[in-house]
Amino acid sequence: MLLCAGVTVAGEQQPMAPDMKQVQQLMKQQIGLMKPELQKRVKALSPKTKKMLLTIYAQHSRHSAKVTLRQVMHEVLSDYQSMAAGIMTDNAEQTADSARRLTNHRIPRGGLLPYMNLDQINDNSLAALDGFNASVEGTAKRLADAADQGDMGKAASYMDDITGGCVGCHAMFRGVPGQSSLLR
Ligand code: HEC
Repeated sequence: MLLCAGVTVAGEQQPMAPDMKQVQQLMKQQIGLMKPELQKRVKALSPKTKKMLLTIYAQHSRHSAKVTLRQVMHEVLSDYQSMAAGIMTDNAEQTADSARRLTNHRIPRGGLLPYMNLDQINDNSLAALDGFNASVEGTAKRLADAADQGDMGKAASYMDDITGGCVGCHAMFRGVPGQSSLLR
C-alpha cells in the first residue's frame, strides 16, 4: 500500500494527480519492485526517456499496488466500450465520464515496463509510448470535452484516433493474447 501513499484518496472518483516529486518517489518504489535484469535496463534509460515516463505517470492519479497491466487493460476496454455506448445512445454524460475514466486509467503494480519484453526496455522502443499515450489519453480528453459541449458528432470523430492508439501500441508491445504453446 505504501506505493499509493499520498496519491489515491479513498472514496474519491477523481483524486488529485500526483506532483512531479511524488511521481519520482513512485518511480523509485516501482524500480525497487523490479528484478535486477529489468532494474539494470531501466536505470540505463536516458534522462529524456525517464522524463517522458514520469510525465505519463503524472497524468494518472491511480497507481495500484496490486493489479497487473492485463487487469488494467480489461478495465480500459470496459471504459472504452462504455464511452462508445454513450455516443451511440446520445448520452453525453456517460460519454464524458467514461472517456475521463479511460484517460485516468490505473497504473499497474511496478508501472508499465515490467509487462513489456525485456529487449524493448530501451530508449528507441520506448520513445513510441509518447505517441500512443497522446493518441489514447490525449484524444479521449478531447472527446470528453466535445461530449460536454453536446457535440456528439465531434466526440464520435475521435474514436478512430483512440482505437489507432490501442492497436498501434499492441502491435509494438504485445503479442496475440492467449496464444498456446501446445499448438504446432
Ligand atoms: C502503452 C501501450 C498500450 C496502449 C496505448 C494500449 N494497450 Fe492494451 N495492452 C498493452 C500491453 C503491453 C498488453 C499486454 C499485457 C500483458 O499481457 O501483460 C495489452 C493488452 C490488452 C488487452 C488484452 C488483455 C489480455 O487479457 O490479454 C486488451 C483487451 C487491451 N490491451 C485493451 C486496450 C484498449 C481498449 C486500449 C485503448 C483504449 C489499449 N489496450 C491501449 C499495451 C497497450
